[in-house]
Amino acid sequence: MTVATMELESRVLDMLQKVGIRKGQTILDFGCGYGMYTMPVAKIAGKQGRVYALDKDKEALDALMQKIKSAGLKNVERMETSGELEIELTNESVDGVLLFEVFHSFYFPQAEDRRRLLGEIYRIMKPSAFLSISVWPNLVETETENEIENADFRLEKEVCETPTDNKGLETYRTLVFRKA
Ligand SMILES: C[S@@+](CC[C@H](N)C(=O)[O-])C[C@H]1O[C@@H](n2cnc3c(N)ncnc32)[C@H](O)[C@@H]1O
Repeated sequence: MTVATMELESRVLDMLQKVGIRKGQTILDFGCGYGMYTMPVAKIAGKQGRVYALDKDKEALDALMQKIKSAGLKNVERMETSGELEIELTNESVDGVLLFEVFHSFYFPQAEDRRRLLGEIYRIMKPSAFLSISVWPNLVETETENEIENADFRLEKEVCETPTDNKGLETYRTLVFRKA
C-alpha cells in the first residue's frame, strides 16, 4: 500500500466514523460500485457486523468481492440486482444505509423512483438507524433535501467533506438523516 493510499483509507475511515458506522452494525451500501466505501465499512463493522454490497453492475461486484476475499474479510454479502427498487432485506433489519454518489437524477431521473427507493430504505432501517447520502454538489438538485425530508427523514448533520480518490477536484456533501 502506498502512502497516498494509506492516507486516503485513513480519511475514509475517519469520515465513515463521523457518519455513524460502528463495530457490530449491519450496513447496506446501496450502489456500492467497486467498493470505495464497502471495504472500510466492513473493517469498522468487524466480525460481528455485516455489510450488504448492493449493485446492478456485475463487473464492479466481481472486482469488489475479489478484493474482499484477498483482504480476508468475511462479513460482506454480495447483492446483485437488475436495478429494481425493491430491496431484498426484511423490515427494520439494518443499522445504516449508504447512498453514496447514486441518489441523483443521473441514476434516478424519475422523482417517483427516488420516492420509492427512499420508502424501501425507510422500511429496512431500524428505528435508530441512519441514512447517509453523499453527492457531488452540482448534482444536489435543489429539491433533493426536501424529497428526503418528505419521505419522513430528518437531517441530523452534514459531515463536511467526503474523501475521494480524485482529491482536490471534487468536494462532496455528505448528509446524515434519521427517521423523523
Ligand atoms: C458513481 S457509482 C458510486 C459507487 C460508490 N457508492 C462510491 O461512492 O464510490 C454509482 C453506482 O450505483 C450503481 N447503481 C445505480 N443505479 C442503481 C440501481 N437502481 N440499483 C443498484 N445499483 C445502482 C451503479 O451501478 C454504480 O456502481
